[in-house]
Amino acid sequence: MAGFREAQGDLVLENVTKSFTTFTAVDDLSLTVPRGSFFALLGPSGCGKTTTLRMVAGLEQPTSGTIRIGNTDLTGSRPYERPVNTVFQSYALFPHLSVRDNVAFGPKRRGVKDALAQADATLSLVQLTHLAGRKPTQLSGGQQQRVAVARALVNHPEVLLLDEPLGALDLKLRREMQVELKRIQTEVGLTFVHVTHDQEEAMTMADTVAVMNLGKIEQMGAPDVLYDLPRTKFVANFLGQSNLMSGHVDDTDGDNVVVSTAQHKLRLRKSRAAAGSGDIAFGVRPEKTRIHNADPGPAAAGNSIGPGTLVDVSFTGVATQYLVDVPEAGRWAVYEQNLDLERIDSRPGDTVWISWDPGHAFGVRP
Ligand SMILES: Nc1ncnc2c1ncn2[C@@H]1O[C@H](COP(=O)(O)OP(=O)(O)O)[C@@H](O)[C@H]1O
Ligand SMILES: [Mg+2]
Repeated sequence: MAGFREAQGDLVLENVTKSFTTFTAVDDLSLTVPRGSFFALLGPSGCGKTTTLRMVAGLEQPTSGTIRIGNTDLTGSRPYERPVNTVFQSYALFPHLSVRDNVAFGPKRRGVKDALAQADATLSLVQLTHLAGRKPTQLSGGQQQRVAVARALVNHPEVLLLDEPLGALDLKLRREMQVELKRIQTEVGLTFVHVTHDQEEAMTMADTVAVMNLGKIEQMGAPDVLYDLPRTKFVANFLGQSNLMSGHVDDTDGDNVVVSTAQHKLRLRKSRAAAGSGDIAFGVRPEKTRIHNADPGPAAAGNSIGPGTLVDVSFTGVATQYLVDVPEAGRWAVYEQNLDLERIDSRPGDTVWISWDPGHAFGVRP
């Protein structure tokens, strides 16, 4: 859209560490956010997301490492010298100013001549033109959020940082704003770095998701790729849910490795195994599994487990969730879509087996 320069280069963090007196919040973190992408930094509370954003914004200096946009080294520069703006969860709007003046505040302070015209153009982008004369208190939470986004975008940053910007909104509004932010990002073509602890939000919005844990990136990639093939236990459980069981790779069989667990010998595609030998955690997603009243037999030997005891059945409308205790394999979850309610007739206490398509299993580091 007119007035917005596309980002000039990738945002690159190289070996960035931030240590506070007794605590390392960000630990030798390296990542590249491709120019113009919608990037999500996803992780549990306390994993170092805000600290990472604050270093990109210049509100915090790294203990070591460098931060660049394209070829420009930002390390050590002041926040206002950086082509970066931040939207915080607490919108931090000026209560005494109208929406229009809130948005025009930054450009006015920088002596931009057509500050009000730029504010109006940005308000149009976030579809708030009709509310430009109101005060922040006369707006809903979602509308205030849009003003906060407009107030950051009007400065024409190359990178927009969003720190849990939808955290204060109720679920329905969150969903609406997710779609809205994605639309705005596509329209302006800037790099967005969106911090969230909500895995569904990260997967819905971002081109690339980086999963962060204890100050480090565990894995990053396109949402569907990450979900399909997690590489660590943490990612397997933080991004969706997984059935995991410890095993040991002790043989190969064509394109597969054979994983021995306490009770089973399971097959796993070599390309989907984090290790070609040694200890591994064998995993499969609950919705990729099926439940059986009888042993599925030798044909499914490498991709089924059982017998186990059904401990719970929950009908959720679109799906039925089964919980099964399998000796030596722990408690497994099976989600089956309700296509054929007649197929399974099981109650808690019954003996059941679980199977899956061999291509869906994965092996992560133990
Ligand atoms: N100024 C500070 N001094 C000491 N510890 C801090 C400071 N800021 C953050 N931390 C610690 O660093 C860790 C990461 O914090 P933060 O980046 O806010 O995590 P997140 O945004 O992922 O929830 C937390 O354990 C937090 O207590
Ligand atoms: Mg935070």
